[in-house]
Amino acid sequence: MVSVADVSRYIALEGVDGSGKSTVVSALATRLRDAGETVVTVREPGGSPFGEVVRGLLLDSDHLDIKAEVLLFAAQRAVLTSEVVRPALEGGEWVISDRTYYSSLAYQGRARGVGMDWVREINEWAVDGVIPDLVVVLDVDPEEGLRRQHREDRIGREGVDFQSEVRAAYLELAEAEPDRVLILKGSLAVEEMVDAILERLGR
Ligand code: TYD
Repeated sequence: MVSVADVSRYIALEGVDGSGKSTVVSALATRLRDAGETVVTVREPGGSPFGEVVRGLLLDSDHLDIKAEVLLFAAQRAVLTSEVVRPALEGGEWVISDRTYYSSLAYQGRARGVGMDWVREINEWAVDGVIPDLVVVLDVDPEEGLRRQHREDRIGREGVDFQSEVRAAYLELAEAEPDRVLILKGSLAVEEMVDAILERLGR
C-alpha cells in the first residue's frame, strides 16, 4: 500500500470567513474529476457524522470555553482524518478539504491567543502524520469576507479585528512554510485559482 506521505493528493483551502473557499473546493474537484481522478471533498468542522454534531456544538453555542473550542476542533479532525481522509489517500483518491488544522493555528492559535505552537502540537498529534501536501490560502480583505458571509456563526461574530488577526496568521504561516502554503489573491477568478493550484501541483 502507498504511504500517505509519498503522494501529493491532499489539498486544503483556507482563508478568513467568507473568503470563497467552498466554491474553489468544488471547482478544483470538478477539474480533477474531469481529468479522471477520484476526489473526495470534506469540510471542517464536519465531514463525518461525528464531526457534523461537533460542528453544531462549536458554531451554534452562545459561549464555549476556549480550551473546549481547541479540543473540539482537534477531536472532529482526528475522526475525519482516521475515518475519511487517511482511507481515501491510501486508496489512491484525492482529498480536497474546506479548512484543515491551519484554521486552528490561525483562529485559535493566533486570533484567540492560545499560541500557534501549542495548537500545532495538539493537532499534529490528532491527525497522526496526515498533513495536507498543499494549503491554499485565499487572501481576501477581512471586511469584504464578513460582508460576503451567508450565515454568521459564533466565530464569524467576532468581527473584523479578529478576522484581521486570522489573515495575519495565514500570511505568517505562508512566509514560514513556503513549500506547503500558497497564498492566492481573492480577486482572481475561480478558474484562475484552480489553474494556479494545478500548476503548483505540477499538473
Ligand atoms: P466555515 O464553515 O469554513 O465558515 P466560513 O465559510 O464562514 O469560512 O468555518 C466555520 C468557522 O469555524 C469559521 O469562522 C472558521 C472557524 N474555524 C476555527 O475557528 N478553527 C478551526 O480549526 C476551523 C476548522 C474552523
